[in-house]
Amino acid sequence: MKEILVLYYSRYGAVAQMARHVARGIEQVAGAAARIRTVPPVSAVCEAVENAVPDAGAPYAEIDDLVECCGLALGSPTRFGNMAAPLKDFLAATAGLWRRGALAGKPAAVFTSTGSMHGGQETTLLSMMLPLLHHGMLIVGLPYTEPELATTASGGTPYGASHVAGATSDHALTGDEKTLCAALGRRLAETCLRLAAK
Ligand SMILES: Cc1cc2nc3c(=O)[nH]c(=O)nc-3n(C[C@H](O)[C@H](O)[C@H](O)COP(=O)(O)O)c2cc1C
Repeated sequence: MKEILVLYYSRYGAVAQMARHVARGIEQVAGAAARIRTVPPVSAVCEAVENAVPDAGAPYAEIDDLVECCGLALGSPTRFGNMAAPLKDFLAATAGLWRRGALAGKPAAVFTSTGSMHGGQETTLLSMMLPLLHHGMLIVGLPYTEPELATTASGGTPYGASHVAGATSDHALTGDEKTLCAALGRRLAETCLRLAAK
């Protein structure tokens, strides 16, 4: 069984929902399983330390999750057109992996949620790819062979899955957004298995 890490940060729950749909897509592929992990929030108050285990939801990721899994789906809310600090903080701790090329050649995909339709989905997704490219990961996107990409009236981009959560974060994922999340997970899992077979 090949495990794929679904690593996300979510403050209000939208990206957490997307992560579950990405995981569903991964698990549609025979021989693939999703390992869902999150990261703790960061605080400007240095003394504030999170509990070692979250109160609810996915466990916190450890660096070894990246090593043990054959691929990565990375999800973040948009924060001023960029990825959220807690995920950046986690990635900043991966220099040791980068030095030994531990992630080089592994496939990766990205997903995001924004408040507004034009609030920076593409910039967030593209900037999330940068550290992954430094690691030598192979980016898996969402091509227009996925029909929902052409029909969606909400989220969904060729750069990765996306969702428009609304100003108060209360929009449910649309059918097309869910389908595209799952398609991204499925494509990532298929790529992992194809690479592992070589
Ligand atoms: C500090 C901060 C910055 C944000 N910046 C943006 C932004 O640039 N564009 C946008 O559309 N939404 C922005 N949002 C809204 C979030 O991206 C949106 O609510 C997202 O769906 C939250 O995901 P979550 O429910 O997984 O936490 C911002 C929210 C916060 C708290």
